Amino acid sequence: MQSKPRVNGSIRLPWAEENSKQHSLRRRPQFQFNPTIQPKYKTKPSDPTSRRTWKEADSTPRRLFLRLRLLLAASTESPIGPACRYKSQRDPHLNLLESSSSCLVASAGGFYCLEPETVPFASPVSWIFLWLAAGWFGWLLEPESVCRWELVGSSGRMVAAVMTAEQVVAALREECATPASRLDEVAAAMADEMAAGLAEEGGSKIKMIVSYVDNLPNGSEEGLFYALDLGGTNFRVLRVQLAGRERRVVKRDTREVSIPPHLMSGNSSELFGFIASVLAKFVEDEGHSAMFSDKQRELGFTFSFPVRQTSITSGTLIKWTKAFSIDDAVGEDVVAELQTAMEKQGLDMRVSALINDTVGTLAAGSYYDEDVVVGVILGTGSNAAYVEKAIAIPKLEGELPKSGNMVINTEWGNFSSSCLPITEFDQALDKESLNPGEQIFEKLISGMYLGEIVRRVLLKISSRCSIFGNVDQIKLNTQFILRTPDISAMHHDQTPDLRIVAEKLADNLKITDTSLETRKMVVEICDIVTRRSARLAAAGIVGILRKIGRGTPGHNRKSVVAIDGGLYEHYTEFRQCLESTLTELLGEDASKSVAVKLANDGSGLGAALIAAAHSQYLN
Ligand code: BGC
Repeated sequence: MQSKPRVNGSIRLPWAEENSKQHSLRRRPQFQFNPTIQPKYKTKPSDPTSRRTWKEADSTPRRLFLRLRLLLAASTESPIGPACRYKSQRDPHLNLLESSSSCLVASAGGFYCLEPETVPFASPVSWIFLWLAAGWFGWLLEPESVCRWELVGSSGRMVAAVMTAEQVVAALREECATPASRLDEVAAAMADEMAAGLAEEGGSKIKMIVSYVDNLPNGSEEGLFYALDLGGTNFRVLRVQLAGRERRVVKRDTREVSIPPHLMSGNSSELFGFIASVLAKFVEDEGHSAMFSDKQRELGFTFSFPVRQTSITSGTLIKWTKAFSIDDAVGEDVVAELQTAMEKQGLDMRVSALINDTVGTLAAGSYYDEDVVVGVILGTGSNAAYVEKAIAIPKLEGELPKSGNMVINTEWGNFSSSCLPITEFDQALDKESLNPGEQIFEKLISGMYLGEIVRRVLLKISSRCSIFGNVDQIKLNTQFILRTPDISAMHHDQTPDLRIVAEKLADNLKITDTSLETRKMVVEICDIVTRRSARLAAAGIVGILRKIGRGTPGHNRKSVVAIDGGLYEHYTEFRQCLESTLTELLGEDASKSVAVKLANDGSGLGAALIAAAHSQYLN
């Protein structure tokens, strides 16, 4: 297998299917303000006057009229102060404050230069008024600034609305900023929290769960094994035929089923009953198999929630994350629950391994490439697992494993630190979530939340101004109505008129009447939110690498990070940003020893592999 040493440019592991479409996406230049080149905002395309050029306004009365309209707009739609501050950042020609203050300075200068007694208006105050009036009049007539009249368009209200919206975006941009210095702090805080979590149970918000996987698969695994992968709105059952070192995975069958939403917040026996029934049907459909006439089927159970493991085949649920909330399952042994449900279905199958999806990704990654040391999930939720030295785990009880290693499921989703860039939108999202105060890192970076953060930003803009026209507030107020695949589609929109953005806004939020500039602004919001997510995820990975002394200058041993999850796989901008950020943080030199790989479906395959490695039929 060919592999690249650099992190920028991911390589897929052999089982990953190439998605040529995602690679063909060209990188879209970022939307940036440049008031000196062309007028930034136009009125809505449906507005007939928006297509007028400034030449049409190149007459004194017309200019005067437009200037007065602008003044009116600024004073009716938005508070004059913020409007002026906005203008001073964006377009000095339209800056009322600047204009009036320069008049003040000029009048003061004039007052000192002239002898008050030698002029007819002797009082300094009247001089100031005179100069001010002249300044305002000059501003109204100044032709240079009128070339900006497209900014005003036919509707003064629209201009002020755009300015208000842009203020929200500018604040978001600033609050979501993740310069390298901040990311270094995040990586350092992550590494510290990891050490604290390894020291003692409850030592950190990051649980650092001992997985009881002390050996990763090496290719020698053989036999037919099953896997059950539960962690998102869908779950999958797999049947995997392993044929040893030479032939590896010779056959794999998968069935994916979506979980009815009511089961995600119902009770435990209903959820496990449903899953076991699908599994039983999957087995029944394969017909009679002589292979299992004298032995039990064996299953690797990927359960992608924080579980306190007590052995490789048992673990109690600490809490639910993502969209799950089934109270009676918390504190219970999830393997026992599944085993009972399978028995009720008359299914003779043994759970021979309970793992987290990150552990599965790590195992599947190292099955094909022994340099894989970290497994990361960037999908609906987010988390990472890695290989730790057993002696570096003070809380590990009993004998140290023979391999000297132990796979740790970090549960980094629960990481939080004062160095994280958290906005009012994140705070509100957290407060209204199923698990307030928890999974803060996950809420900033994972696929479940990115679309929701963007929706909240759009909602704020829409509540402040009329940039989206007449909007159905019910849609915009509906939580999770904008999903991460939607923002990915908008973010990657390559059409000249951002048609896909228009469609997504219309289909999801019933926002049907937007100008091109408004759509560009929406793309920028997606970009800000997604870049923050990708850069923070990269910082998390760097934190883990630093914790195990990898990816440092002079360290030549190759370290591969296997990543699975739809966010990383399908969101090209996200993936590219994560990879370039890794290089930025590790440095050109050190990053040569680090590679990232897409471990597509690693969690399912990994469960089957670990089940094989812990088979009851092994000598
Ligand atoms: C869970 C983890 C899981 C991750 C990715 C998080 O919400 O707490 O256990 O690995 O999602 O699925």
